[in-house]
Amino acid sequence: MGEFEADSAVPRRLRIPTAAAMDRLGRRLAKLLRAGDLVLLDGELGAGKTALTQGIGAGLEVKGPVISPTFVLARVHPSRQGGPALVHVDAYRLSDAAEIDDLDLEASMSAAVTVVEWGQGLAEHLASDRLDILIERSGDPADETRWVTLRPAGRRWAGSDLAALGDGFSQTAAKALAAVNGSPAAAGDHDGRPPGQGGQAAAASGSPEVAATAASRRAGSGRQAGRTAHG
Ligand SMILES: Nc1ncnc2c1ncn2[C@@H]1O[C@H](COP(=O)(O)OP(=O)(O)OP(=O)(O)O)[C@@H](O)[C@H]1O
Ligand SMILES: [Mg+2]
Repeated sequence: MGEFEADSAVPRRLRIPTAAAMDRLGRRLAKLLRAGDLVLLDGELGAGKTALTQGIGAGLEVKGPVISPTFVLARVHPSRQGGPALVHVDAYRLSDAAEIDDLDLEASMSAAVTVVEWGQGLAEHLASDRLDILIERSGDPADETRWVTLRPAGRRWAGSDLAALGDGFSQTAAKALAAVNGSPAAAGDHDGRPPGQGGQAAAASGSPEVAATAASRRAGSGRQAGRTAHG
């Protein structure tokens, strides 16, 4: 509330130090989610997309363990208490938006919260209102910190209390906005950026590193080869 009430489209960037904190973030986010919402999760293998979805599932109080839907493209978790279901999708193996359409997610969307791992670039067309979430590792392999950037799209999130998600987590808002926009101000930002990374400015400017990531994850067999069994 307050400072960000009138402009909830400001991306929030949160520092999530542990898996338990990621779970808490998911539970807290679930309290803001409602039927019809679409959440797209992006981030490298093992970033914590499923971990965040597990927290969302716990917060929504849905049935069944939320696990990585690697061998199932989409899994429906009905509510245990009359609320929206969680539809958990893994788009990792999908190579274009038409394949997403084959899942017919639109049929379930109005009664569910739909969370799509690897959804960026594939699932945006499902809804004009979305919550795009990017999970980044710290640059240090010994550091389990994740940086989570929440970027709301569309009118759905106007006036929502995304700002409150950051309570208890380190966060930057104005700086995240500057960084996402790739503004010059971001270049001098040293306290809101994961150590060892170019940060959001690189992502927004379409740096080769980011472009390579996007290309390789859509490379079909390459995507499958890069990922075998995982939790
Ligand atoms: N700060 C953290 N936030 C989230 N997960 C963390 C954190 N620290 C450690 N972990 C661990 O990292 C792993 C994240 O795995 P997860 O399956 O959620 O990744 P993913 O992004 O879904 O990967 P994939 O692309 O393979 O689906 C888990 O084992 C989790 O316990
Ligand atoms: Mg996963």
